[in-house]
Amino acid sequence: MSIQNQLQELETEAVSAIATSANLEALEQLRVNYLGKKGQLSQILRGMGKLSPEERPVVGALANEVKVAIQTNLEKQQVVLQKAAIEAQIAAETLDVTMPGVSRPLGKIHPLNGVIDQVLDIFVGLGYTVATGPQVETDYYNFEALNTPQDHPARDMQDTFYLPGGHLLRTHTSSVQIRYMENNEPPIRIIAPGRVYRRDTVDATHSAVFHQVELLAIDKGLKFTDLKGTIKEFLRRMFGDDLPVQFRTSYFPFTEPSAEVDVQWKGKWLEVLGCGMVDPNVLKAVGYDPEIYTGFAAGFGVERFAMVLHQIDDIRRLYNSDLRFLNQL
Ligand code: DAH
Repeated sequence: MSIQNQLQELETEAVSAIATSANLEALEQLRVNYLGKKGQLSQILRGMGKLSPEERPVVGALANEVKVAIQTNLEKQQVVLQKAAIEAQIAAETLDVTMPGVSRPLGKIHPLNGVIDQVLDIFVGLGYTVATGPQVETDYYNFEALNTPQDHPARDMQDTFYLPGGHLLRTHTSSVQIRYMENNEPPIRIIAPGRVYRRDTVDATHSAVFHQVELLAIDKGLKFTDLKGTIKEFLRRMFGDDLPVQFRTSYFPFTEPSAEVDVQWKGKWLEVLGCGMVDPNVLKAVGYDPEIYTGFAAGFGVERFAMVLHQIDDIRRLYNSDLRFLNQL
C-alpha cells in the first residue's frame, strides 16, 4: 500500500476511534497510539526515506493534514468527554436540600457560673478587685482570725469537714478576707468567689458543697449606710427594681453589727446573704488599727441567687448536670 493510502486509512480509522472513545483516559491512549513518538503516524512516516524527491513534499503535506485532522478530532472529543465527566459528577453529588441537618449542640455557661460572673461584673463596675483563696484552709483563717476562737458557740453554726494535719475544708469564703488583708493595705475593695464545704444533710435547699461570693471594703470612715447602700444597689442590679428586699438583724462573730438580707421569693422571704461592719477584732488580727479604719463585709449564697433568678425549687438540680433541665435556663 502506498504511503498516501496508509495515511488516509490511518485518518479514517483514527477519526472513528476518537468519536467512539468513552472517556478521557481512553482518549489519551488514542492520542499516544496515533500521534505519539512511537505512534502509528511516526511509523508510517519512517517509510518516507524510500520516496523520490518529487513525492516527498506531497506526502509531507498530506501527513501534516492527517496529523492536524487527528489533533482537531482529539480536541473536540476531549471537550465532549470533559463536559460529560462534569455532568456525571454533578448528578452523583446531588444535594438534597430538604434533608435534616446535623445538629451540633452548643455549650453554654452553667447557671452557677453565670451568677458568679454577674456578681463579679457588678462589683468590678463599682471598683472592686477579684480575689481568691484556697479551699483547704487552716483553723486560723477559717475561724480564729475571724473572731471565732475554739470555744466559740458560733462554730456550731457551721459543721466543718476536718482534714488530717490541722487542715479543714473552708466553711465560707470569709477566710479570703484575712488572707487578702494580711497582704494588702487599706483602702480595700475586694470580691472573692469560691466553693465552700459544710457537713450538711443534702436536701432541697442544702448541699455539702456550695458557692459563695465574699465582699470586703476597708477604708477610713466607712459606715453601715455605705454597706446598706452597696448591698441595695447590688441587689437592684442583680434582680431588678421590683424584688422586695429586707435587712434583718443577725449575728456573725466577724461583724458587729450584723444583718441578714432576704429577698421575697414565691411568697416567702428567702435569705440570700449575710453582712455587717467588720468586727474590730478582725481588723486587729491583720494588724489594722480599728481606730483609723472601718469596713463592711458580706457573703452571698450563689445557689440561692441562682434559684431566685431562674425560679429553681431544688438546689440539687444545679449539680445534676441534667441537660434537659440546664437547656431551659
Ligand atoms: N461567712 C458567712 C456564712 O458563711 C456569711 C457572711 C456573713 C459573710 C457576714 C460576711 C459577713 O462577710 O459579713 O454564713
